[in-house]
Amino acid sequence: MAISPRITSSQQKASSALNSSPEVREHFIIKGLGGKRQLKGTIAVRGAKNAALKILAAPFLFSDTLYVENIPQIEDIERLLDILKALGVSVSSHSSKYGFALALDATGTLQNKLPRVLAKRLRASIVLTGPILARTGRVLFPHPGGCLIGARPIDIFLDGFKKLGASVKEKNGWYDITAPRGGLHGATIRFVNPSVTATETLMMAAVLAKGKTVLKNVALEPEIEALADFLNQCGARIQGAGTTTIEIMGTPLLRASGKVYKTPPDRIEAGSFLILGALAAKDLRITGCEPSHVEALIDVLELAGVNVEVGDGTLRVKNNSHPKHFKSFDIKTHEYPGFPTDLQAPIVTFLTQVSGQALVFETIFEGRLSYVPELVRMGADIQVCDPHRVIVRGPTALSGHELESPDLRAGLACLIAAIVAKGESVIHNVYTIDRGYEQIEERLLGIGVDIKRITNS
Ligand code: EPU
Repeated sequence: MAISPRITSSQQKASSALNSSPEVREHFIIKGLGGKRQLKGTIAVRGAKNAALKILAAPFLFSDTLYVENIPQIEDIERLLDILKALGVSVSSHSSKYGFALALDATGTLQNKLPRVLAKRLRASIVLTGPILARTGRVLFPHPGGCLIGARPIDIFLDGFKKLGASVKEKNGWYDITAPRGGLHGATIRFVNPSVTATETLMMAAVLAKGKTVLKNVALEPEIEALADFLNQCGARIQGAGTTTIEIMGTPLLRASGKVYKTPPDRIEAGSFLILGALAAKDLRITGCEPSHVEALIDVLELAGVNVEVGDGTLRVKNNSHPKHFKSFDIKTHEYPGFPTDLQAPIVTFLTQVSGQALVFETIFEGRLSYVPELVRMGADIQVCDPHRVIVRGPTALSGHELESPDLRAGLACLIAAIVAKGESVIHNVYTIDRGYEQIEERLLGIGVDIKRITNS
């Protein structure tokens, strides 16, 4: 067992940084580099938010304690742990060789109603519904919240639950899902859209269903494969995760028997650091990442002329010339392995600094261009064509500004813009950035960024 039941002082410090909430108003002050290449050193990638959040929904599938490590210490994880505790899951934190670790035990008395306020704070709360329904036979939940990046319907989840035999009722903004007597049964479910969280939710629900479930046209994101691989090590029978069709043979409750899930590295964080390095670093090493997960980004950066060195678990971006010598390229976001929607805002920031005109087409969400006016105020030349498309013309010098972070990925794009810009920027609504990036300012300080976190009194 690689885990010991104690918390290190650095983890305690990080945990206290997690006491932030939308009510705690903080801002960043950044002194920009004015287009100079000055950043250097090494920056480490943390465990993937969108992998850790899903394994934290899995304890309901287990008859013993589930151990998880390399968990990013971020707001969304804290809020999901609050929900787990409210549902009766026992949670304890530990130190491990691979960072922050948790032991999660759902063997006691469990509740099946998600607390409204907490569930509405993050989209990932919906992933709990599959395992809770499969384990307890019923789940009640409000429409999930999360970043305001589009409509974010849940029809695929509801359709999947019905196909597994459950009844679905909706009243006053609450969903009440009940499994048939005898429990969920296997079914064939074809997704109208390859939704990431619906794939994870229905895959986990099917683990405890009777018989065989086939999920078709599902998402391929690496976090789904990591989840399935671990569940299989603990007794699940899932085949095809990472392809468009997943087959699950139902089994009794899983047993972890001390096995530890190591959260894979965050590919969106790695990609964002790569973009920052391409714009503002002389020589930046990104460690603890999985380069094959960001191939779609590496390909376009290389096409633009950026020098990226791919190592074993590392990326290095080493360039001497000004970004204006890089060439622009068009981007169309796509489900994995295409260009990720979560890197759309950082890549638009990149495109403002390089030469040429680019069409950026956000195909997944209709509300993911809300940061564009912020970049335009800084001096970027971006024309919004419709809620899905922008034309970016570069290079344009950016100047420091007061910015409002609209959501966590766009918030990081604002940070990158502020680092590149000339003069001082203030970024408000830091809470949105803390939702997804652990101690971001400490890591940026380590590579030479001039950044301060200010808590408003
Ligand atoms: N969709 C439906 N019906 C549904 C579910 C989804 O039509 O029932 C549509 C959505 O409206 C969207 C498309 O399907 O157009 C794909 O959405 P998806 O369900 O895949 O998104 P998600 O599962 O809610 C996850 C990540 C997002 C990431 C997207 C796409 C988590 C917790 N969230 O969201 O991450 O952008 O996949 O890769 O895993 C983030 O980390 O900042 C973030 C927003």
